[in-house]
Amino acid sequence: KNTICWSNNDLNIKENQSILKETILQGNLVIFPTETVYGIGANGLNPEASKRIYQAKGRPSDNPLILHIADRNDLYKYVRYVSEDAEKLMDAFWPGPLTMVFEKNELVPKETSGGLETVAIRFPKDKTAQQVIKLAGVPIAAPSANISGKPSSTKFEHVLEDFNGRVDIIIDGGPSEIGLESTVIDMTGDIPTILRPGYVTKKMVEKVLKYTVQDVSGTKPTGQVKSPGMKYTHYKPKGEVLLIRGSIEKMAAYVCEQKIKLEGHKIAVICESEYQELFNVNVVPLGSKDNQLQMAHNLFSSLRDMDKESVEYIYIHYLNKDELGYALMNRLEKAAGYQILDL
Ligand code: TXA
Ligand code: MG
Repeated sequence: KNTICWSNNDLNIKENQSILKETILQGNLVIFPTETVYGIGANGLNPEASKRIYQAKGRPSDNPLILHIADRNDLYKYVRYVSEDAEKLMDAFWPGPLTMVFEKNELVPKETSGGLETVAIRFPKDKTAQQVIKLAGVPIAAPSANISGKPSSTKFEHVLEDFNGRVDIIIDGGPSEIGLESTVIDMTGDIPTILRPGYVTKKMVEKVLKYTVQDVSGTKPTGQVKSPGMKYTHYKPKGEVLLIRGSIEKMAAYVCEQKIKLEGHKIAVICESEYQELFNVNVVPLGSKDNQLQMAHNLFSSLRDMDKESVEYIYIHYLNKDELGYALMNRLEKAAGYQILDL
């Protein structure tokens, strides 16, 4: 397949706008930037289009897609009920990196909702994302634009690597601003429940609602899970990943030992930039320990770098879980398959 690549400015050209609209209405795939990560999008009201997304990603068909809208009023077209609390969260965080789960109505096909009676809705802040949705004239179902199981894409080059020749259009919006996927919160129960942590933290939600909400995102997946996405392997580089909890000096000593034991193998460390000098192996710095936003911005890219350099053993320093650190560690624990070494 011949993939058309555009910069976000190319979307201001009339002719391209009609190509985009036609592509979506024909049920084909468009990759576009958002403020969180890149999304692989299609007409969310067309079952065949949603199926194409699952195929392209190699994603299990029971893992539901997020429906993206570009106008808050569109929400009421696709869901049965919107609580007062949901309205408050929208006032505070939309457009932005908060996805809310509602009871879906008959307009949303089962293919889009992964067979569930609920649907996740997100109103992204990114202008290009909004433009794509508006031009299409339909809500856009879009999971993160990565092959299932791989780290999400936060750069145009990541998207090309996974999908060049497999989708119709790719729009380059530069590096994703936030770099972590949206917070997902289930609004269908008695108490709102965070299913996936993100830039919008539990604390931020509670500040708006003025009560304590539930968070099931930290539970290691076993048996019954609330969000289908929780039970699948995620973000995994090809090499073996180990999270190391404890002082950075102890970690440096451990890595030094491993370097001798694993002679001839490729080893790398991912850690806060301040500690880079302590290691005698290849280090990919995440960003300053005092700058969680920077670490979020670099996280998926550094995991992808591991594969680019064919690293076989990856040692990652366990980060402070405060605030955004909670979402960062959620991704890293998954990348490590929950393998943690306490030193
Ligand atoms: O930031 C984001 O949310 C990005 C950009 C492209 O918008 N999208 C994204 O989509 O991360 P995806 O498909 O990779 O992750 C969606 C998550 C999955 O964990 C999925 O299981 C959960 O949301 N989800 C979607 N619909 C749901 C539903 N009805 N009930 C529970 N969880 C749901
Ligand atoms: Mg994803």
